[in-house]
Amino acid sequence: MLRVKDLVKTYNNGEQRLYALNKISFEINKGDFVVILGPSGSGKSTLLNAISGLDPVDSGSICYDGSDITKLDSKSLTAFRRKKTAFVFQAYYLLPTLTAEANIRMGADLAKINNIDEIIEAVGLKGKENRLPHELSGGEQQRVSIARAIAKSPDILFCDEPTGALDEETGRQIMHYLTKLHKEKKLTVVMVTHNSNFSALSTKVIKMNSGKITDISIRDNPSSVDEIVW
Ligand SMILES: Nc1ncnc2c1ncn2[C@@H]1O[C@H](COP(=O)(O)OP(=O)(O)OP(=O)(O)O)[C@@H](O)[C@H]1O
Ligand SMILES: [Mg+2]
Repeated sequence: MLRVKDLVKTYNNGEQRLYALNKISFEINKGDFVVILGPSGSGKSTLLNAISGLDPVDSGSICYDGSDITKLDSKSLTAFRRKKTAFVFQAYYLLPTLTAEANIRMGADLAKINNIDEIIEAVGLKGKENRLPHELSGGEQQRVSIARAIAKSPDILFCDEPTGALDEETGRQIMHYLTKLHKEKKLTVVMVTHNSNFSALSTKVIKMNSGKITDISIRDNPSSVDEIVW
C-alpha cells in the first residue's frame, strides 16, 4: 500500500544541517497496524508528517499504491490527503465553537458520508453530541477527534501520540477503539508513540533513533489492549 524509499528531510539549525530523516525506507501493507517508536527528537513526527503528505521532504519517494506523492503538485496533494488519509493529534485540534457532532461532521462533509450516528455511538459519545469541546473531558475530546478522522473513511489513519495527553484509563479506551477499527473495519493505522508497550498491539514495529530506522519487526499475533502493561 505504502512504500517509502530513501527518505531524507533536513532542517537548517543555524550553521548546521540536521538530518531529521536520514535515508528512511520501509513498507506498510493494507491492514497493518504500525507502531513507530523512538526517543524524543528521533524524527517520529517528522516521518509521520512526511508520509501523510503534510510536510515536504528533501529527497526520496513515498509511493501509495504505486504513485509517488512527493511528485504531486499542491492541489493534487491536497486531494490525495482529503480522499485517502486522516490524522489524529495528541492535542485534538477541535474547533472550539462547534459542538462535538459538528466537529465530527467536519470530517464527514469532506467525503459526504452519512453514518455519523453510527460513528458517534461507536466512540461512546451518544448523548454528548451537542456539547462544545470545553464541556468534554480530554478523553472525550480525543474520541471526537478520532470520530472526525473516521468519518472521512480514510484508507489510512495516522496518529501522533493519540494517548499522550490522557490518563491510563482513558488512554486504554482510545486504544481499544483504534484496535477495534483496525480489526473490524480493516483500517490501516500508523501510530507514533513513546510507549513501547504499544508495540504488542501492532502488526509491525518501526524503531527510530537520530533520524534513522534502527529496527523493523513484524508481529503475527497482536495482543489486546487488556493484555498490555501501560
Ligand atoms: N521545524 C523545525 N525546525 C528545525 N528543527 C526541527 C523542526 N521540527 C523538528 N525539528 C528537529 O527535528 C528532529 C526530529 O523532530 P521530531 O519532532 O520529528 O521528533 P519526535 O521523535 O517526534 O520527538 P517527540 O517524541 O518529542 O515528539 C528534532 O531534533 C527536532 O528538534
Ligand atoms: Mg513528535
